[in-house]
Amino acid sequence: MLSTRLRLALDEGMIDTPVQILGADGNVDISPLPGPVTLISTVQPDHDRLSRRGLDVATDLRAGMATTIVSLPRERALARDRIARAAATGGRIIVDGQKTDGIDAMLKACRAVGTVGPVISKAHGKIFALEGGEFRDWLAEPARNDDGYWTAPSSFSADGIDPGSAALAGVIDSLAGAVVDLGAGWGYLAGHALRSDAITEIHLVEADLATLDCARRNVEDPRAVFHWADATAFTPPRSARHVICNPPFHKGRAGTPDLGRAFLANAARILEPRGTLWLVANRHLPYESTLNEHFAEVSELPGTNAFKLYRAARPRRAR
Ligand SMILES: C[S@@+](CC[C@H](N)C(=O)[O-])C[C@H]1O[C@@H](n2cnc3c(N)ncnc32)[C@H](O)[C@@H]1O
Repeated sequence: MLSTRLRLALDEGMIDTPVQILGADGNVDISPLPGPVTLISTVQPDHDRLSRRGLDVATDLRAGMATTIVSLPRERALARDRIARAAATGGRIIVDGQKTDGIDAMLKACRAVGTVGPVISKAHGKIFALEGGEFRDWLAEPARNDDGYWTAPSSFSADGIDPGSAALAGVIDSLAGAVVDLGAGWGYLAGHALRSDAITEIHLVEADLATLDCARRNVEDPRAVFHWADATAFTPPRSARHVICNPPFHKGRAGTPDLGRAFLANAARILEPRGTLWLVANRHLPYESTLNEHFAEVSELPGTNAFKLYRAARPRRAR
């Protein structure tokens, strides 16, 4: 746990305040830190959760902080990018992470590029000080992938179109009216759906800010509205005639069918009474009972070996 290691790092004199923590999650415990703390979070609902806790939250690193703590994500390119951005702010750089998120490999990589100071191992992870080095090559700006779309290192399926989304695209060619794309990623599904002239507006709802910024570049259509928001709680300005969705199926290492289920429940809530949900899911994910709970009419469409496609209509209203 970050908080356990933070206490030890403080005792070792590794941390001066003011501090900023890059990649803090919504439940981060900063109680060990004595001075001003800024939390840099570009993911919802963590960002808003931290704000509601009355903490100082921002989306960009600040210059002039005494210490920047990098919370290590599992994705290697994103982890390297965070370290490079932190190093560019000046000040002291501390890297913290779990073994399961690759902290040992990152420590080795940092030693190969720069100078590493004290290292503390605790609670299935490590916290270490980075005391110098040139990390500019680790910056990972958004770039076009092989399919020609802008994606960021934090994006789902950054290298190309997700095969599940490609399967769903085949059944959302003729949507009409107001559409919501829950977990819109860098905009592949919404961009595809917008080939239909009968769509009046499409709301792209995405948790990851860098990915949503890529969607803005990929989907240049005046009918598209972009929301940096939690898809499990998002409410569009008017009820949707269609919801399209390829829900997230893991967060970090853990599988998250509960998160996917919350997407489906919200889809039912925001649809018109005659509205339709179009869903793709990995074959192994158990969404049938959730669909039947929230929709009176559920049909499975021809899918692929790996993905199931569903059309769910007549949303049941929560009592
Ligand atoms: C399986 S991906 C699908 C992305 C995109 N629709 C596509 O077809 O490529 C799921 C997306 O949901 C996003 N996501 C995860 N949790 C979210 C949440 N609570 N609210 C909004 N988006 C979320 C992820 O960042 C990811 O981009």
